[in-house]
Amino acid sequence: MSEQRFGAGIWHFATYVDRYATDGYGEPRTILDAIELAGQVDDLSVVDLNWPFFGGDISDDDVSKALDKAGLGVIGITPEIYTRQFSKGSFTNPDPGVRRLAHEFVTRSCDVVRKFGADYVKLWPGQDGWDYPFQVDHGTLWQHSIEGVGQLAAENPDLTFVIEYKPREPRVHMSYSSVARTLLGIEKIGLPNVGILLDFGHALFGGESPADSAQLAIDHGRLFGMDVNDNLRGWDDDMIAGTVHPIELFEFFWTLHKNNWEGVWQLDQFPFREDSVAAANLAIDFLKRVQKGLAVLDVEGLKQAQAAHDAVAAQRIAQNALFGS
Ligand SMILES: [Fe+2]
Ligand SMILES: [Fe+2]
Repeated sequence: MSEQRFGAGIWHFATYVDRYATDGYGEPRTILDAIELAGQVDDLSVVDLNWPFFGGDISDDDVSKALDKAGLGVIGITPEIYTRQFSKGSFTNPDPGVRRLAHEFVTRSCDVVRKFGADYVKLWPGQDGWDYPFQVDHGTLWQHSIEGVGQLAAENPDLTFVIEYKPREPRVHMSYSSVARTLLGIEKIGLPNVGILLDFGHALFGGESPADSAQLAIDHGRLFGMDVNDNLRGWDDDMIAGTVHPIELFEFFWTLHKNNWEGVWQLDQFPFREDSVAAANLAIDFLKRVQKGLAVLDVEGLKQAQAAHDAVAAQRIAQNALFGS
């Protein structure tokens, strides 16, 4: 295995507000503060940046300098198409003017991707969907989801777009909600520069087996990126990777490994009450255990066990590799 690179969403190093701690879980930070903290993580190579940059009037050059100082590159730019102006949707907003605004907004973020030489535009249309039965015409809504992404991908063939699906939150039902539905949309768009960013926690939250989701996306040539974290499966808790579902995380990475999928292993965690640098270090240390586990996995034994659907034998092999025999 080549030298594995690790990344993180820059929001990992921000502070957060929710509907309870409306005064926030910490003093507000700018994106420059967050980049400085990310630079303190032991083994981080790249970050995914929210755009516009949070914390005030911050220029591309300010961010460039902070990244250089922290020794970090940019893997992706996440245009914020889920803030108040898009609360009734971005690509699926009922108002064509707001849909246009979303398009223009993401188009502007494309230039930021070019400027930083990032790998992709990360689309997380978290407000695209519905809340109540009878609220929307489902055919129209899905059509808008597909057209919104398709138009951007067609107009920017030099760039890659990744869709990060999630079942719900903030919308009660998100339009791009599952691996299968997102693949259907991408195949309908029919362009080579649109793929999936598979968030391990979103797959868990959606009742998927993340390894199976990864295999499906890979089989369609559409696994362009990934995030890891953990949760208790009932919500997108964005906890520290490896803390709750170590075996499923191991199977997920085994699936990437056996398909020769090479990309950044990226953290999408929200350490509300934890030290963000320590939380990132703990996750990356666990991911390194996963790497070691992959190196010693009894591949032949696993093949035989899987050929017979022998759950006990397969589990023993996986446990021996990850936890030691
Ligand atoms: Fe994510
Ligand atoms: Fe998430």
